[in-house]
Amino acid sequence: MMLQRHLIFILYSLCASVFKGSQGQFPITQNVTVVEGGTANMTCRVDYNDNTSLQWSNPAQQTLFFGDKKALRDHRIELVRASSQELTIRINDVSLSDEGQYTCSLFTMPVKTTKAFLTVLGVPSRPEITGFTKPAMEKDEITLTCTTSGSKPAANIRWFRNDKEVQGTLEVNATGKSFTVKSSLQFHVDKRDDGVAYTCSVEHVSLSNPYMTTEVLEVHYAPQLEITHSQILPQEGQYFKLECVSIGNPIPEPVLWSKDGGELPDIERMIVEGRELTITTLNKTDNGTYRCEASNHMGTSSAEYLLFVYAKDFPGPSTDPNALGQHGPDHALIGGVVAVVVFITLCLIIVLGRYLARHKGTYLTHEAKGAEDAPDADTAIINAEGNHVHAEEKKEYFI
Ligand SMILES: *[C@@H]1O[C@H](CO)[C@@H](O)[C@H](O)[C@H]1NC(C)=O
Ligand SMILES: *[C@@H]1O[C@H](CO)[C@@H](O)[C@H](O)[C@H]1NC(C)=O
Ligand SMILES: *[C@@H]1O[C@H](CO)[C@@H](O)[C@H](O)[C@H]1NC(C)=O
Ligand SMILES: *[C@@H]1O[C@H](CO)[C@@H](O)[C@H](O)[C@H]1NC(C)=O
Ligand SMILES: *[C@@H]1O[C@H](CO)[C@@H](O)[C@H](O)[C@H]1NC(C)=O
Ligand SMILES: *[C@@H]1O[C@H](CO)[C@@H](O)[C@H](O)[C@H]1NC(C)=O
Repeated sequence: MMLQRHLIFILYSLCASVFKGSQGQFPITQNVTVVEGGTANMTCRVDYNDNTSLQWSNPAQQTLFFGDKKALRDHRIELVRASSQELTIRINDVSLSDEGQYTCSLFTMPVKTTKAFLTVLGVPSRPEITGFTKPAMEKDEITLTCTTSGSKPAANIRWFRNDKEVQGTLEVNATGKSFTVKSSLQFHVDKRDDGVAYTCSVEHVSLSNPYMTTEVLEVHYAPQLEITHSQILPQEGQYFKLECVSIGNPIPEPVLWSKDGGELPDIERMIVEGRELTITTLNKTDNGTYRCEASNHMGTSSAEYLLFVYAKDFPGPSTDPNALGQHGPDHALIGGVVAVVVFITLCLIIVLGRYLARHKGTYLTHEAKGAEDAPDADTAIINAEGNHVHAEEKKEYFI
């Protein structure tokens, strides 16, 4: 009995220790992610190992290294470390086709294996923007397309119009193991797009900073003109200047001036210099319609200004009769305010007068009451009468 128990205990201990040992004797690996062209380190560890051999094999089940023995002829694959506890190999210049499940085997009985997935990231190419011919014409419909290839997983493309994000249409095509990603922006250009920068930004896990490409649009559009003048009330004898302010691409030049549908009168007082028309000394005869006209290949535009030359001593806007009329209500207002102030003052005087009178009355009753405290009736009567008379006198005096 005793011996049997002893044997069972020994067997149990043996089994436990064997079980424990085999549990620790197990290969451990980790998934690896590497950027295309980089180096992948594949490590396989066994924490508790007798000298049992380790082996790495590739996704095609070809043995790469058996212990420190190289098995596959591939100069990119090198041994980093081989010990009873570790087998680490290195794959240089990784390509997308290296991706897959690698196996580490520990040659115990039976063989124990573990898998490590090697993920290879495809780096996107620098983006290119196509579809824009410089310059575009106003109202043209254009499609800007930004393309990047070679990304894995597929890259993302974002568009920015002068730093403000705009939405494009994304299209992803698989080319082999990587992706070609395109994003398009379709719109009608107008003059507001002239000089605007459209930026295509490519974002990807393999890039710490996105790749960006910018296209600055050039849009041709018809001129737009406007005339500005040097003063509002031009008077005889004054200096006067008109400027024809124009925008347009190409810049519309030259600017042509005309007066009342004909050429400018050929007089020395009128000087045309670029976009400016200067009249050195205004004369009544100068009034009329002045027009400036400019064109570029997109079209012609014009603007007009009606000049009326006022007499030399024409009253300025400050002494304008209308302006005087505006002062009328001001006077009325002041008068009104004065009237109100006077009225309020009068009211105050009346109220004050009444208040003082009533105050006197109160005094009187108090004094009359005080008569009760008099030493005798006579004195009280005298006091009361005297006070009454006195009060009446005072009352009359106050009113
Ligand atoms: C791979 O291992 C080598 C040597 O141990 C080390 O220098 C390198 O940084 C490792 N590379 C990576 C991606 O872990
Ligand atoms: C195991 O490896 C050690 C060195 O780490 C060596 O001394 C020993 O002989 C090896 N044993 C066997 C059975 O290979
Ligand atoms: C390793 O990668 C494979 C395939 O992508 C995945 O199924 C597994 O869960 C990963 N293992 C770890 C520990 O991340
Ligand atoms: C990409 O995909 C579009 C449809 O999404 C298809 O018309 C085109 O032919 C594809 N291009 C390539 C190169 O596969
Ligand atoms: C305006 O022009 C007329 C004729 O050209 C001339 O007789 C007159 O003196 C001019 N007036 C002034 C203020 O220059
Ligand atoms: C000046 O302008 C007024 C009003 O626009 C017009 O009646 C008058 O005929 C003009 N005089 C000349 C000399 O152009």
